Amino acid sequence: MSKLLVANWKNHPKTEAEAVALARASDMRGIVVCPPHEFVREVGVVLEYAALGAQDYAPDLAVVGARYAIIGHSSRRSEGETDDIISEKIGLTAADGLIPILCVGETEGSHIRGEADVIVRWQVASGLSRLHKNRDAALCITYEPVWAISIHAGAHEATVTYAEARIACIREAVMHSGHRGVVTYLYGGSVTSANAGLFAGSAEFSGLLVGGASLQTEEIRKIWQQLQK
Ligand code: PGA
Repeated sequence: MSKLLVANWKNHPKTEAEAVALARASDMRGIVVCPPHEFVREVGVVLEYAALGAQDYAPDLAVVGARYAIIGHSSRRSEGETDDIISEKIGLTAADGLIPILCVGETEGSHIRGEADVIVRWQVASGLSRLHKNRDAALCITYEPVWAISIHAGAHEATVTYAEARIACIREAVMHSGHRGVVTYLYGGSVTSANAGLFAGSAEFSGLLVGGASLQTEEIRKIWQQLQK
């Protein structure tokens, strides 16, 4: 089965015309395109095969045809978004009928102190804590070690084995949460066409969340190809 590719454009591109052009180039089945909020509507109009996603919860997402929303991304956590706010947004997203993409992962300091497993277990338990009315909701959970995001350099790249061990903890935390819906597990953190195959080849991951490389049309195509089986 093909795996999922979530394209997280972050603050790029800068103009609507560029966003529409990038959306056309990314319009392939199995991709979730997550543009900046100001372009969500226009990008949604263009997509035929890819699904529309957003980078955060917003009340108007279902109306513009979005099917996914990234919640708890490390950039928001670092700006002060708390676990409590994240769990509320997960609940709201699911209640609106969208699939939340919960991001979890330890910071560099926690990584060095060996606290990764405790952190991801807590982030999952807390993130899913307001889903009691939507116990059967479909979810994605992305493991993104914060120290491996946006570096594109060898020194801090997470290995597949390292990421697989954290996913095992995440799966356990989901089981303990009592969530019954289908959960899709993703990996994110400096994924490019050079390492996508390694993570995509792991049975533990059903997809990838790609930031920087998703802005390059050649890269997104090459990564997508590695997710097709
Ligand atoms: P990156 O971003 O692929 O540029 O590291 C990942 C993300 O969006 O979290």
